Amino acid sequence: MKKERILITGAGGQIGTVLTQALRETYGAPAVIASDIKRIDHNAGPFVVLDILNRHRLEEIIDDYKITQIYHLAAILSANGEWNPLKTWDVNLNAWIMMLEVCRLKGIRKIFYPSTIAVFGATTPKEYTPQHTSLEPTTVYGISKQTGELWANYYVQKYQMDIRSVRYPGIIGYQSMPQGGTTDYAVEIFHSALKDQHYTCYLSRNKHLPMLYMPDAIRATLELMEAPESSLSVRTSYNLAGISFSPEEIFNEIKKSIPDFTIEYKPDFRDEIASSWSHSIDDSCAREDWGWKLEYDLSKITLDMLEKLSQINT
Ligand SMILES: NC(=O)c1ccc[n+]([C@@H]2O[C@H](COP(=O)([O-])OP(=O)(O)OC[C@H]3O[C@@H](n4cnc5c(N)ncnc54)[C@H](O)[C@@H]3O)[C@@H](O)[C@H]2O)c1
Repeated sequence: MKKERILITGAGGQIGTVLTQALRETYGAPAVIASDIKRIDHNAGPFVVLDILNRHRLEEIIDDYKITQIYHLAAILSANGEWNPLKTWDVNLNAWIMMLEVCRLKGIRKIFYPSTIAVFGATTPKEYTPQHTSLEPTTVYGISKQTGELWANYYVQKYQMDIRSVRYPGIIGYQSMPQGGTTDYAVEIFHSALKDQHYTCYLSRNKHLPMLYMPDAIRATLELMEAPESSLSVRTSYNLAGISFSPEEIFNEIKKSIPDFTIEYKPDFRDEIASSWSHSIDDSCAREDWGWKLEYDLSKITLDMLEKLSQINT
């Protein structure tokens, strides 16, 4: 076991739930401190309540647990962010700058900061989006994460901190439900297929978006954090391509296993958000710098999701 003391913020969320477990397998449960603004029910290790806007509490936890690394996952996601833009800015950006400053003052160099495909906007090339490209996001979530990337880079250049980041595509997993993102449909559709054999989709049928299966997302995160510092050339945030598909394509894939499955399309405001994002992404920098390689394609994701959810429901 490696001698690190890791704090995870937003550990009760879709990714945090699974990442906490993966980090505990690597570093040992007592060395991984899960935190969230809300209490987490199923938690096999240390847990603290932390509102990331509370600087005093953050400093207290870092001192009490002698934290050496932070995975800063807490955020308000794209769809929810639009209901309260200023609060979203506070949680996603102001708390992040405060976190960077507290870490600098306390000598914590290594931080993981998740960014997102929501940093892309109307002027970004939609196909095979390059690593370095025009970023003019239109959601407050996208604006806050893009600015957050620049602050990460600033602290790396100015204070020699070691902040590492990926732009996650939409994440698909069976372990927990997503909460207020634009790509949530790709998880909901599996639950509906198994429960009701029918799904009402809030995106239009041909809306292609990049997605990533949870095991790939967790592996990417851990591999990036393990990579030699000298190999990293991108200190804003690495593109991660995942696998791109539309609601109609995932529906057809699920139908191969559940022939009675039906779908209807009722696009809402999230369809417009999705329209501003990339269809597919170039992640050659991640592949070249730290050896990133995708494992799960659409058919593998579909079969695994249906199998795992069926096991959970029986
Ligand atoms: N899930 C995705 O598809 C996706 C895609 C791209 C990027 N990301 C990024 O990955 C990270 C984790 O995403 P997720 O899907 O697990 O999100 P999530 O919404 O499921 O979880 C976020 C967690 O943050 C917590 N939180 C919110 N406000 C807080 C505050 N003030 N203080 C402390 N905790 C607070 C919530 O309680 C929640 O448990 C986020 O930063 C998100 O932007 C996620």
